[in-house]
Amino acid sequence: MRFAFALLLIALSPIGHTRPLEAGPAAPVATSEEHASPTGAAPALAPGSLYADLGGQEGITRMVEAIIVEVKADKRIAYLFEDTDWDYLRDRLVEQICELSGGGCEYTGLPMPDAHSGMAITRAEFNWFVEDTERGMRKAGVPLAAQNRLLALLAKLHGDIVGQ
Ligand code: HEM
Repeated sequence: MRFAFALLLIALSPIGHTRPLEAGPAAPVATSEEHASPTGAAPALAPGSLYADLGGQEGITRMVEAIIVEVKADKRIAYLFEDTDWDYLRDRLVEQICELSGGGCEYTGLPMPDAHSGMAITRAEFNWFVEDTERGMRKAGVPLAAQNRLLALLAKLHGDIVGQ
């Protein structure tokens, strides 16, 4: 009986968090749906927008820098980043996440298939990158609900990145 309850808890837990948190972020507060405007187009800085929940420009920059620390330390994928201009990549990621989360930025980098072309990134490598992203978000103190919403948006880019 107790085992069944544990299974239920696992099934209900948000993606990516079936294991214990290392540096527990604040508890999730609210979802954008709860704050969505009647038109469905939430204003960029509306409380509860993903952009706001990620901490705006400052929070996203801190988060991307934490993600980069994890990616650089990840020996499974570090070989792909040997010639990377990290300042450039950081700035593009901040722009991209700002745009994706409704912050009103314009992403000025390469389209995802072009950016990853010739790398033949595997599904496993994509998943490792996502793991690093999760760890970076957690260490940066991103609220759990915002983590999961961003991961869902990034997951949609999978087909444009893997196998290019
Ligand atoms: C949803 C996941 C991902 C996002 C949002 C993303 C985003 C980006 C962006 C914005 C750029 C820069 C584009 C430009 O040059 O203008 C880039 C480049 C790059 N990405 Fe990704 N990426 C993702 C997944 C991955 C994965 C899984 C890997 C490898 C395991 C990877 C490896 C690289 C590398 C090596 C570059 C080139 C960096 C350089 O210029 O040296 N990316 N990515």
